[in-house]
Amino acid sequence: MPKIYPIVLYGDPVLETPAAPVTKFDDELKKLVDDMFASMYEAHGVGLAAPQIGIAKRIAVVDTTFKEDPAARLVLVNPEIVKTEGKQAGNEGCLSLPEFREGVTRPKRVTVRAQDVHGKWHEHTGDDLLARAFMHETDHLDGKLYIRHISALKRDLMKRKIKKLMKAGEWV
Ligand code: NI
Repeated sequence: MPKIYPIVLYGDPVLETPAAPVTKFDDELKKLVDDMFASMYEAHGVGLAAPQIGIAKRIAVVDTTFKEDPAARLVLVNPEIVKTEGKQAGNEGCLSLPEFREGVTRPKRVTVRAQDVHGKWHEHTGDDLLARAFMHETDHLDGKLYIRHISALKRDLMKRKIKKLMKAGEWV
């Protein structure tokens, strides 16, 4: 049975620290990736980065179809954005910032180069939501949350709301 990890919320420094590259492609990594998919689905997400379960490694999982298409399950180990094209506007959320959504402009089409659980390199190109997920998850591995891409005014407002929730014991 896969292990379901709790999602680390904004405020934990692991979310704002660049993650370390993966160098071992072993059974432990395979198990972790399976656990990450299970944890992502449990949290109703379409993307999850390892720092969001408290593991500071460059691993992300994505499934923008949310279980509809098994071929859409993407494992991104040590991902690098290699190409971006165009622009898209749209709202973005994050499992580590539950209940919040803000408009974030992202590239319309993104190509990412990443390793799979065996260490083999692949290129994946995605449009729209998938392009957004590639940017969002790669940002996570660089210790960046999407609120970096919103205005300082909106970010400060969000941080004030979170502080209130923390004080009230509702940010757990
Ligand atoms: Ni996120």
